[in-house]
Amino acid sequence: MPDPASAIPRPGYGRRGSCNTPILPHPEGMTSTSPLLPNHWLPDLGALTLACGECQQCSLSASRQQVVVGRGNPKARLMLIGEAPGAEEDATGLPFVGRSGLLLDQLLAEVGLDRDHDLYICNGLKCRPPENRKPKPAELEACRPWLEQQINLVNPAVIGLVGATALSAVLGTKAGISQLRGQWLAGEGPLLGGRALMPLFHPSYLLRNPSRLEGKPRSLTVGDLARLARRISQ
Ligand code: URA
Repeated sequence: MPDPASAIPRPGYGRRGSCNTPILPHPEGMTSTSPLLPNHWLPDLGALTLACGECQQCSLSASRQQVVVGRGNPKARLMLIGEAPGAEEDATGLPFVGRSGLLLDQLLAEVGLDRDHDLYICNGLKCRPPENRKPKPAELEACRPWLEQQINLVNPAVIGLVGATALSAVLGTKAGISQLRGQWLAGEGPLLGGRALMPLFHPSYLLRNPSRLEGKPRSLTVGDLARLARRISQ
């Protein structure tokens, strides 16, 4: 099996419209015995959802109830990428609908962002790890082509990396989230080039650190989200 991450030829700038590779005409025709990871850019999020639904690239496919692809505005300028589905997400098929998601909704509302209209949200891992354990690097690696397809399709100008797992899954950096949160990072390479990225604390961390005092993680995160909101309104 070829390395899944290298199976996707990159279009010129990773931008919609720059794709000159063939488009899969019938993604629903993919089966578990066919090469699951398409070697071209998928035409739309519907095709991505169908393809992810067939994915068995790692063992999480055996325990998942549903693949959790994404939700929100597929044309949004802002994409948030989290870690992995939990129990509620696995049950509903929607990202960030559990306790972390409710807190995230609240923080987004505090800075005037509506989760359904102003952004698109997804995870680095599309299937729930058992007992909500941390995703394994090999699982993130196997899932990365789907995330790349998603970034290419939504084509966000700004990406918020929600938590340390998203930070390392997308940028491959080992630097800690506390070090990098709130900083603008310039995306590099065919897919991320031209996009602005900002690491953010994960809402599950904020649930464990609920103080609203200035300088504490919650208020830092509200400040970070406000800067994301300003950036997409420019
Ligand atoms: N729910 C998600 O969908 N992703 C997370 O990272 C946490 C909770």
